Amino acid sequence: MNNFEFSNPVKISFGKGAIARLPHLIPKGSKVLFIYGGGSIRKNGIYAQVQEALKDFDVLEFSGIEANPHYETCMKAVDLVKKENRDFLLAVGGGSVIDATKFIASAVYFEGDPWNILLKGEAIKKAMPLGVVLTLSATGSEMNERAVISRVETQEKLAFSSPLIFPQFAVQDPEMTYSLPPRQVANGVVDSFIHVIEQYLTYPVDAKVQDYTAEGLLKTIHDEGLKVLKDPHNYDIRANLMWAATNALNCWIGQGVPQDWSSHRMGYSLTALFGLDHAQTLAILLPGVMTYMQKEKWAKILRLGEVVFRITEGTEEERVRKTIGATEHFFREMGLKTRLNEFGIGEKDLDALVEPVKRMGWKLGEHHNIDWKVAREIFTLRL
Ligand code: NZQ
Ligand code: ZN
Repeated sequence: MNNFEFSNPVKISFGKGAIARLPHLIPKGSKVLFIYGGGSIRKNGIYAQVQEALKDFDVLEFSGIEANPHYETCMKAVDLVKKENRDFLLAVGGGSVIDATKFIASAVYFEGDPWNILLKGEAIKKAMPLGVVLTLSATGSEMNERAVISRVETQEKLAFSSPLIFPQFAVQDPEMTYSLPPRQVANGVVDSFIHVIEQYLTYPVDAKVQDYTAEGLLKTIHDEGLKVLKDPHNYDIRANLMWAATNALNCWIGQGVPQDWSSHRMGYSLTALFGLDHAQTLAILLPGVMTYMQKEKWAKILRLGEVVFRITEGTEEERVRKTIGATEHFFREMGLKTRLNEFGIGEKDLDALVEPVKRMGWKLGEHHNIDWKVAREIFTLRL
């Protein structure tokens, strides 16, 4: 196991009726900015519950955060925070609203051009306190210190992280996910599954706690994921998926082990250029990474096959091939597509797709050997 130093300070309030806990979680006397997305919370009753819980606070609202949140919109919220003297941010939504809130919290105090937090990785020195009411389980953003923001003007999608943007708390009521459209449920299953994969499917370093935990999460997400679309109001399925998604990216399983975020990084340009959902980009790219990098990932692919897909027969070569196939099949069973040509994306688009990897000089993968040329070959495998 590799060395690590780790802390995760996020308080979780989990279960039915958890939104009512908000008055105990937000510091008394806070001037709250209640941030949300395109309005789904007004239809499913979450808005009313949050309003009721916040009735003794001084609250202003900021709505209209897009899926794959826009830098431009976040900057409008930054102006509002300054103008109206807000001192606590409450994100009510999925990964997009949470990430936008983390960026707003950072940009408010940033000296200089806030875009450089993303573009140049300039460190933030201070951030506003924030809390989360989670409505979509997928990203783990409710319990981590990362955020991903898109800039419409330049068609860029970039990530940043800082210990200063951990939420103070996350309220997680699985019933809040009943109203999700099937596509978003499926996205959440695939995204969280691949978060575990990116921290697990590398090479073994005898990290037993991390490996067994990762395998438990993968099995949970796979098995419950296959049930949830048929039984969307089953509380236990929703609760297991929600808690699994949080644990998939609260960074516990990634401590002391090599990681490979190449599918995520390569996928950003599919969203920025073609508007594909985040999980959809991963469902296309991961089978390509597994195929191209199978020698490096051999031992873990065999374990993945055995634990999650029960592939135990045949030679190692056959089992590796079957496991890659089963992974892609799982994404298709969830209703996602797995090929670029299903979106009309072809050879002509490859240069543009790998341009960010080239421009940013990324060397991706656990061995840092996926440069833009290798990335291009992986994209080619997925045409
Ligand atoms: O905008 P509203 O009206 O809220 O509708 C949303 C949105 O259209 C809707 N929705 C959310 N909760 C709902 C609901 N509809 C009905 N009922 C509910 N309870 O779902 C749509 C998608 O929401 P979004 O927040 O975009 O989805 P998700 O949670 O998958 O977040 C995706 C974003 O997170 C980033 C992605 O890149 C993408 O921008 N990620 C963030 C990470 C992190 N911070 O750690 C890691 C991830 O790998 C990922 O990159
Ligand atoms: Zn993701």
